[in-house]
Amino acid sequence: MANKRIDQPTGTETVGHEWDGIEELNTPLPRWWLWTFYATIAWSLVYVVLYPAWPLIDKATAGTLGWSSRGDLAREMGAAEAARQGVFKQIAATDIEQLGNNPELMAQAIAGGAAAFKVNCVQCHGAGAAGSAGYPNLNDDDWIWGGTLSEIEYTITHGIRWEGANATRANYMPAFAGVIEGAQADAVTGHVLSLSGKGQSSAAGAQLFADNCAACHGAGGEGMVAMGAPALNDAIWLFGGTAAEVKKQILAPRHGVMPAWNERLDPVTIKMLAAYVHSRGGGQQAAPAEPAAPAAEPAGDVAQGTKAENDG
Ligand code: HEC
Ligand code: HEC
Repeated sequence: MANKRIDQPTGTETVGHEWDGIEELNTPLPRWWLWTFYATIAWSLVYVVLYPAWPLIDKATAGTLGWSSRGDLAREMGAAEAARQGVFKQIAATDIEQLGNNPELMAQAIAGGAAAFKVNCVQCHGAGAAGSAGYPNLNDDDWIWGGTLSEIEYTITHGIRWEGANATRANYMPAFAGVIEGAQADAVTGHVLSLSGKGQSSAAGAQLFADNCAACHGAGGEGMVAMGAPALNDAIWLFGGTAAEVKKQILAPRHGVMPAWNERLDPVTIKMLAAYVHSRGGGQQAAPAEPAAPAAEPAGDVAQGTKAENDG
């Protein structure tokens, strides 16, 4: 049986095994393959000595370097946390209107605000902050309560009509049911719609508006940030812009409510949220207070005719 010989077609030596005329050739492993194989063995020995390797009952051999993936993670987390704390401290120490002077810090604040927005705000304002009926769009330059960084920060901090929060933003449009009735309600509705180029104004409607509404919404319906009264002349509606919806708001107004976030979030997070909201496209620059309204009773600043809502 074991008769080694040279296999003719291949020129390779046989090992001497033969089954039914089929012979096994003695083909040596390629050199490069062998050396690679030995190298991996050597590498594994070095590795076993340096790094954790052999599993024992409740841990593994430690390795002479003392490395562990847990230790690595802890070190990286520590470094990230230290960096974050540094940024937090810096943001905490910076007046919000001055944040813009440090673009890098501002970028970090906006990123932090975007993350906090996803957790706390999307359920009402939508994932893209575009709002929906009753919940203002925060991407446009139309603000109910003011669009500067500090105004937005204040709104987020104290909320809107939030019961129990002393400093909350609050103003309630009176219900005009019983005061403005029937044809009068239709006339003033027509005038309101005409301010954004839709409805039919009338002398009666304009007069009713001047007498009952201009004090809060401005003579031309430009809105009043100090009163939280939305602009009515911009075709952007919080509660809807059909005649029926506008009339409903006049007779029995709805009032939006937002929580005071200082009850749940720390001041730095709120600052970052304000930076994020401000960055969405409609942020306004802080300006020196403007002169008081020419309108009737309400004292206070008339800011840039603003309000923030979804298109209705
Ligand atoms: C429970 C629903 C709700 C949640 C949650 C909520 N908001 Fe609001 N938000 C509102 C409503 C409603 C208004 C409009 C109130 C009104 O009619 O004046 C508003 C208004 C605002 C305004 C004022 C817009 C303007 O035009 O002046 C800002 C800024 C704002 N929200 C930011 C936030 C941020 C930031 C968060 C997350 C921390 C948040 N909101 C979470 C309901 C919510
Ligand atoms: C005391 C101030 C005040 C007076 C007076 C007032 N409003 Fe308002 N109005 C508001 C406030 C504040 C809101 C916003 C409610 C909210 O944000 O939840 C509002 C909201 C509205 C809206 C909804 C706007 C939208 O975007 O959906 C309409 C329409 C409106 N008012 C019309 C009138 C008309 C017409 C009159 C007069 C007959 C009037 N208001 C008188 C304060 C006032």
